[in-house]
Amino acid sequence: MTDFPRKTFDADDIKLNNIYSNLKASHKNNLLKSSKIKEVYGDLLFEDSHTHRPLLHASFVCSMDGKINFNNQPNGSLIAKNNAKDPNGGLADFWVMNMLRATADGVIIGSGTLRDEPNITAHIFDKDLENDRLAAGKPAIPLNIIVSRSGKTIPFEHSIFKNPLPLMLITTESGAKYAKYYAQVDTFEIGGYKSIDDVEYHQETIINLYKENQQKLVILSCGEGEINNQIAMKILKILGLNYVSVEASHYTHSLIKEKMLDEIFLNYSGIYIGGNAMGIANTDEAFTSNNFPHMEMLSIHLHSPFFMYSRQRFVYD
Ligand SMILES: NC(=O)c1ccc[n+]([C@@H]2O[C@H](COP(=O)([O-])OP(=O)(O)OC[C@H]3O[C@@H](n4cnc5c(N)ncnc54)[C@H](OP(=O)(O)O)[C@@H]3O)[C@@H](O)[C@H]2O)c1
Repeated sequence: MTDFPRKTFDADDIKLNNIYSNLKASHKNNLLKSSKIKEVYGDLLFEDSHTHRPLLHASFVCSMDGKINFNNQPNGSLIAKNNAKDPNGGLADFWVMNMLRATADGVIIGSGTLRDEPNITAHIFDKDLENDRLAAGKPAIPLNIIVSRSGKTIPFEHSIFKNPLPLMLITTESGAKYAKYYAQVDTFEIGGYKSIDDVEYHQETIINLYKENQQKLVILSCGEGEINNQIAMKILKILGLNYVSVEASHYTHSLIKEKMLDEIFLNYSGIYIGGNAMGIANTDEAFTSNNFPHMEMLSIHLHSPFFMYSRQRFVYD
């Protein structure tokens, strides 16, 4: 296996203090046996996956005023890394993202993130967590899933396409045409399904096609104009993905609009950015004053007064 970049995380440096917990009785699934997670974070329990799609949670770090990158240096990780008042808190933020990747079957990354972060791959930087995955019989790296509607916003020269990791693109039918033409790697398209029933009817075929072609860049084409998220997530589910971590800002918003995002792990770095810096999906249409989901706090951890790690659940009705 290629040696992906690693980082050492000393549990004492990144240990988090759980100051509030409101997990439900339904949060009963420990997805990864890991003494490090227990030591640093405590119990990390999830609800059952859905029957028709994976359980979906987003994972972001923002400034205290909700910004996810700096205008002058858009790499989102700097929101945590540049917090000079609590550098280990920044490290803990990065570790929490790794913890979520380590428990996930797949990680969704947006094309904008690929453009701003030329070396990003959704692998696990902490060897201890990767070893926990391997011990549990999971693949070392969760399925890396890129999302783009048009395909045109994907930088196909990005290093993610050169690394030997499980990779998928979720796009529309025209996005698939574009990607097949411009991708610099072998591709295989699965798609054209018009409904959940259609996907269910072709379930065996989809599973077999995926198995035969997973060494290639598998392109799931679902819908036209916008990605049909119901169909895309149903296909992930039948391919065996039960828990998926979403690190793509616009896709997060589109899942929330469709009441499909279950939870968000939102870390707050003690910095202020303000102005026109980017928040989650800031170019998309916002919810309105009489139509928006509520959010309920499930847990809060602190590293210091300069870093807070929240877990929240979306309440759609
Ligand atoms: N602070 C953090 O935790 C964090 C986490 C991740 C990223 N970031 C930062 O955020 C920045 C990227 O954010 P972003 O919001 O521009 O990028 P993004 O969500 O990663 O990608 C933007 C692209 O997503 C596609 N898109 C838009 N709506 C979509 C939808 N409904 N379904 C699928 N794809 C859709 C668009 O391309 P198409 O038109 O082709 O669809 C768009 O160009 C980077 O600077 C990154 O470093 C920060």
